[in-house]
Amino acid sequence: MRHGWIDASAGALMSIDGAAAWADWEHAKAPWLQDANRRAQVLLVDTMLRALPDILNQKRLATDAMFPDSSLRLVEGIYKNNLVADYFNAVLSDVLLAYLGQRLAQDPKARIRILEIGAGTGGTSAQVFAKLSRYRDHLDEYCYTDLSKAFLMHAQREYGPGNPYLSYQRFDVGLPIAAQQIAAGAFDVVIASNVLHATRNIRTTLRNAKAALRRNGVLLLNELSDNVLFSHLTFGLLEGWWLYDDAALRIPGSPGLSPQSWKSVLEDEGFGLVAFPAAAAHGMGQQIIVAESDGVVRQATPFIPESSGEPLRAPSGQAEQKPAEAAPPPTGDLVRDKARSYFRELVGETIRIPASEIEACEPLERYGIDSILVVQLTSRLRSVLPDISSTLFFEVQSIDGLIEHLLATQPAALAALLDLHEAAPGDLAITAALLVAASAYRRRESRGAHRRSDFSSLDPKAASQEITLADALNLARDLRVATAAE
Ligand SMILES: C[S@@+](CC[C@H](N)C(=O)[O-])C[C@H]1O[C@@H](n2cnc3c(N)ncnc32)[C@H](O)[C@@H]1O
Repeated sequence: MRHGWIDASAGALMSIDGAAAWADWEHAKAPWLQDANRRAQVLLVDTMLRALPDILNQKRLATDAMFPDSSLRLVEGIYKNNLVADYFNAVLSDVLLAYLGQRLAQDPKARIRILEIGAGTGGTSAQVFAKLSRYRDHLDEYCYTDLSKAFLMHAQREYGPGNPYLSYQRFDVGLPIAAQQIAAGAFDVVIASNVLHATRNIRTTLRNAKAALRRNGVLLLNELSDNVLFSHLTFGLLEGWWLYDDAALRIPGSPGLSPQSWKSVLEDEGFGLVAFPAAAAHGMGQQIIVAESDGVVRQATPFIPESSGEPLRAPSGQAEQKPAEAAPPPTGDLVRDKARSYFRELVGETIRIPASEIEACEPLERYGIDSILVVQLTSRLRSVLPDISSTLFFEVQSIDGLIEHLLATQPAALAALLDLHEAAPGDLAITAALLVAASAYRRRESRGAHRRSDFSSLDPKAASQEITLADALNLARDLRVATAAE
C-alpha cells in the first residue's frame, strides 16, 4: 500500500505490466551496479526477484536462490565493503577497542575472551579482527559462533590463518547455553551483529546471550532500526525472519526492534548503562547498542519427563554420547552397508567431519547440516547421481533415509554408483551376482520360465535395470536363505 501496489480500499493487488516493470528495473539497475556501495544489494535483490515466483509457489527454496551451490558470495557484500555496513561495524569495533583499552588500563594482566553470536560471513568480525591486532597478546579467545556450520567452515578458511585466538562453535542463541558447550559467565564481551532479531523471543535470546557474559561484561549489538522493502525481498523470504512470537516488542511488520524497545527490554533483563553510540545515524536503518550485564543469569531448565528413562537429546551440534548398548546398524544387507559407508564419506567430506563420527540413522541436522549446507550436499549428490531434487533433504532426514529413498526411486543408478555390478570381493560379489540373477529371474518369470537351475548359467555382467534394486535385494535375500536351507 505504501508503494501503491496494493489497492488500499479493496485490499487487492494492483495489476501491473510485468514486462514494463522488468524494463524499469533493468534501467534503474544499470547505474546502481556501477556503484560499489549498492552493487551487492542490487545483485541480491535481482536474484531473489527472479526467483520469487518459484519461491512463492514452493517450487524452490529461498536458501537455494540466496546461497547458490552453498556459496555465500551473494550475501557477503551486504554486511561489509559498503559505506553503511562499514560505518556501523566501525562504530561497534571502536566501542570494543575503547572497552579493551579501559579494561587493560585497570588490569594490565587481564586476559580477554570474546564471543560472537551469528557471526555469519564475518561482516562485523572482519573489521573487529583488523582492529584487534594490537590487543592480540591479551586475547585468550575469540569464539566465532553461528547457527550454521557453513559459516564456521567459511570463517576457518577466511579468518583462521591470520587470527590464532579464534575458536569455532555452533551456537543457537535461542537455546540455553549449558548444553551447547558455551561456558557460563566466561566472556568479557558478547558481540551480535544483525542476528538477535532473527530469533523467536528477544527476552529468551537476551537471557541466553547474558548467561555467557561475566558480571559487568558488555553486550555489543548491531541491529536493524527500520522496516525496509529491501529486507522483505531478501532476508524476509527466509524462515528465520518470521520466527518471532513477541510481535509487541518488534517494529510492526518486521522482526527488528526500535531503539526504545531495545532499551526497555535490555533494562528489564538486567542490562545497565544501555547506550546508542551511533544514534545520529539511525536514519540509515541500523543501530549500535551497548549494554552492561549485572551478572544475574536466567536460564530455562531442560524439561525431563518423569516417567521416561530416555536420555535428553542434545541440541543439534552437540556431540551426543550414544548409549553403549545402542543397537548397531543392521548388518547382513550388503548393499545398504556399502551405501552407508559411501554416503557417510560423502557427507563427512561436505561438512568436514570424519565419516567415522557420522551415524547413518541420525538426523543430518545433528551434524550441522542446515538449509545452507543442504544446498551444498544436494549439489555434491547431483554430481554422482541423476534426478536429485533440491528438496530431497527436506524429505529424507538421515543417511539411512536417503538410502531407502534411492533404493525405491533409482536403484540402478545407486547400484552403479556403488559398483555393485562389478565383481567384488567376498559377500559383495555374491550379492552382486544375486542381483543379476534376480534381474534375469524377473525377465524369465515374465516369459513363464523360472526354474531355479536357470540361475547358474547367468552372466553376472549382464545386469539389467528392468527391476528395482529393492525387489532384487529381497529376492537375493530369499535366494540366499533358500540356498542355505538346502
Ligand atoms: C544476517 S546474518 C549476519 C551475519 C554477521 N553477523 C554479519 O553481520 O555479517 C545473521 C546470521 O545469524 C545466524 N543466526 C540466525 N539465527 C541464529 C540463532 N538463533 N543463533 C545463532 N545464530 C543465528 C545466521 O546463520 C546468520 O549467519
